[in-house]
Amino acid sequence: MDRGERRARRLEHGLDRRSVVMGAVACCAAGGVAWAGPEDALPQKGDRLVLGDGAKAGQPILLDDLPVGGDLVEAVAVDPQGVRRESSRFAKILLVRVAPDQVAEDQRAHAVDGVVALSAICTHQGCTISGWSHDTKRLSCFCHHSEFLPAEGGRVAKGPARKRLPVLPLAKGEGGALMVAGGFLGKPGPGPA
Ligand code: FES
Repeated sequence: MDRGERRARRLEHGLDRRSVVMGAVACCAAGGVAWAGPEDALPQKGDRLVLGDGAKAGQPILLDDLPVGGDLVEAVAVDPQGVRRESSRFAKILLVRVAPDQVAEDQRAHAVDGVVALSAICTHQGCTISGWSHDTKRLSCFCHHSEFLPAEGGRVAKGPARKRLPVLPLAKGEGGALMVAGGFLGKPGPGPA
């Protein structure tokens, strides 16, 4: 097993030491390794989304829970049997909401009333993204300060990352519940542009 494979394996199993040490920043050096595991570990069409953390962790995410201008929300996909897809950190999802007309036209089919979902794993070296500014409409990674535009298909606004953040297509379910309409549009994790 070469160095890259060893790093990938640490990542997949959430054992990268730096991810523990850095705590809130959740740094996890991926060394350029994108997801290469089984597809069913990642969100799939028909999954529902639940809150990933906080006092309401595990509760379904409804459209009304995400006001325009509100905070970034961490979500977890739950399969139709009720199993949370969280065996890999590459399955982590971020949700943000902007005004529907602020979503790029070619991305609107993947959004629900301005809510867009993306991979939470930075495409530079694999840190978990945790910054969001509604003013600039940018997600930011605190490891090396890459910035991404969720309403523009996860396009890179500022490096060192070069690869888009993969978008997760959404659908609206019963009662405004947010559902997954398809797998990530691209492999989550670090990679070339
Ligand atoms: S890991 Fe380097 S900017 Fe995100």
